[in-house]
Amino acid sequence: MLIHDIPTAPIAGQKAGTSGLRRKTREYMAPLFLENYVQAIIDGTGGAQGKTYVLGGDGRYFNAEAIQIILRILAGNGAGRVIVGQGGVLSTPAASHLIRKTGADGGFILSASHNPGGIDADFGLKYNMANGGPATETMTAAIVAASEKITRIRMADSADITLDALGEVTIGAIQVRVIDPVDDYLALMEELFDLDAIAALVAGGFTLRFDAMHAVTGPYARALLVDRCGASPDSVMNGTPLPDFGGGHPDPNPVWAADLMGLMMGPDAPDFGAASDGDGDRNMIVGRGCYVTPSDSLALIADRAHLAKGYARGLAGVARSMPTSAAVDRVAAAKGIACFETPTGWKFFGNLLDAGRITLCGEESAGTGSDHIREKDGLWAVLMWLNIIAVSGQSVAALMATHWRTYGRNYYSRHDYEDVDSAVAASLMSDLRERLESLPGQGFAGLTVTKADDFAYADPVDGSVSSSQGLRLFFEGGARAVLRLSGTGTSGATLRVYLEQLVTDGDLHQDAGDVLAPLAAAVDAVAEIAARTGRTAPDVRT
Ligand code: G1P
Ligand code: ZN
Repeated sequence: MLIHDIPTAPIAGQKAGTSGLRRKTREYMAPLFLENYVQAIIDGTGGAQGKTYVLGGDGRYFNAEAIQIILRILAGNGAGRVIVGQGGVLSTPAASHLIRKTGADGGFILSASHNPGGIDADFGLKYNMANGGPATETMTAAIVAASEKITRIRMADSADITLDALGEVTIGAIQVRVIDPVDDYLALMEELFDLDAIAALVAGGFTLRFDAMHAVTGPYARALLVDRCGASPDSVMNGTPLPDFGGGHPDPNPVWAADLMGLMMGPDAPDFGAASDGDGDRNMIVGRGCYVTPSDSLALIADRAHLAKGYARGLAGVARSMPTSAAVDRVAAAKGIACFETPTGWKFFGNLLDAGRITLCGEESAGTGSDHIREKDGLWAVLMWLNIIAVSGQSVAALMATHWRTYGRNYYSRHDYEDVDSAVAASLMSDLRERLESLPGQGFAGLTVTKADDFAYADPVDGSVSSSQGLRLFFEGGARAVLRLSGTGTSGATLRVYLEQLVTDGDLHQDAGDVLAPLAAAVDAVAEIAARTGRTAPDVRT
C-alpha cells in the first residue's frame, strides 16, 4: 500500500472548544481541514504507530466521508487496529465504552452533539483518550501545538472500505473491525440496571415515550426499551437516524423537544417521557405533567441511585459543573459524601472518575453520567430513572415532590442569548469581570450582591488550574447567577446566563420563571445585557 506525504500548512483556530472541534460542515469539508486536524491529533498524541483506535459518529451529514478520510490517515500513520461502528455509526457513550472495553489508545468521535446537521449546519470531531473520556486540557494544548506547526499529512492511498457488513477488513497493515454499535452498550446497561424490573413495570401497564430526535439513539432505544423491556414500538418516536436530524436541533430540552413536551403536559400523557441528543450523551426527563430540570435529575439520582443494582454499594462522591444548580450538593451533604464543583465540560470529570473520587456527575445542560464510562450518557439516565421508578413505585412527579420536601428546591433556569456580536459579548464579560470586586454590597433591581468572582478550578487530582470559567454573582437570600460565553457555538457568541434561587420552605411548586424573574432583572441591571446587546429577552430559556 502506498503512503503519501501530502504537504500542508497550519489552518488557524484548530482548537477544541468545550467539547471537540465544532465548525460549519462546509468548513470541515474544505480541502485539508479535517485532514489537518486528524494529523494534528495524531502528532499531538505521540503518533499512531501500532495503536488501536475506536472510530464512529452520530451519522450526521459528512459522517460517512469523514470516516473514510480518517481511516486513510490512520493507515498512513501506521495505526495497528481500528474498531468502527457498523455504517460508521457509534453513539458517544457507546464509543467511550468501546475504548475502555477494548483497551484502545483513543477514539475519534464525529459529532457536533446537539447542533443541527446538514451541509449548511454543523460538524465536529472529538478526540477521546484511553480512559474513554474527552482529551484533557493538557492533551488539547499538545494537539493545538501540533496543528500550529503541521507540514504534512500522511495518508494511505487506499480505496473506501465498506462499513455495512460486520467483520474484519484490512487496509495494508491496518486491521479494521466493523462491530454492531449497540451490542456492547446493551450488555453494559444490563450489568448496571435491573432491566427485568423495568420490563415488569412496563408489563404492568406503565407507559413511556422516548424521543430519539432522528439522531443516533433510535436503534439503541429500540433495542433497550422495546426489544428488551417490552415497551410498545411507538414508545420510540423519531427513531430513524437522519443525516440532518429531520431539519431540527437534536437537543433534548423543552424548546427543541416541543412535541414530546406537549404530549407529556397534555391529557393523554404517558407515565414517562425522555429524549436524547444528536450523539446520545444528553438526556431530558419528564413525567406526566412534570418536567425535571437536569440539575434536579442529578440530585434525585444522587439520592436514589442505590436502588439500581450497579450502584447498590452507594456513591463514592459526586460532581457537578459550576453553573449546574447546587441541588446535588444538598444531597451529598446529607449523605456525607464529597461533592466537587468543576468547570463546564465533561472533560473536567475525567480525573475525578479515574481516581475513584466520584461515582456520579452531571451538568445543567442535560448531561448526567457515572463512572461506567467517561462521557455523559443519555439512555443511561433514562434507564436509571426507570429503574428508580420501578423499585420505588413512585411516579416522576411524586419522586420530585418528595425530593423537594426533603432537600428544598433549587429553582433553576438558563437564558441563552444566541449569535450576539462577538466583540459586544466579549466586552460585556470583560467589563463585568473588572467590576467584580466592587459589586458586593451593591444593590441591583432590589437585590444585593453578597459575593462575586471569576470561577477558577484547581483539579484535585493533577493540580492543573483552569481559570476564567464563568462569572459568579451571589445575592442575598440564596440566589446565584452565572454568566459565561459558550464554547461550542459556530457563529457569533452565545451568552449563557444561569439563574438559581434556593427555596427551602413554603410553596415548592411555583413557576420557575416567576421565582427567578427578580434575579433575571438584577442580572440585567448588573451586566447591562439589554443595553449592550439590544436583546430584551433571551432566545432560548431552558
Ligand atoms: C455546552 C454545555 C456544556 C456541555 C457542552 C457539550 O457547552 O453548556 O455543559 O458540556 O455543551 O455538550 P457550552 O456551549 O456552554 O460551552
Ligand atoms: Zn451530545
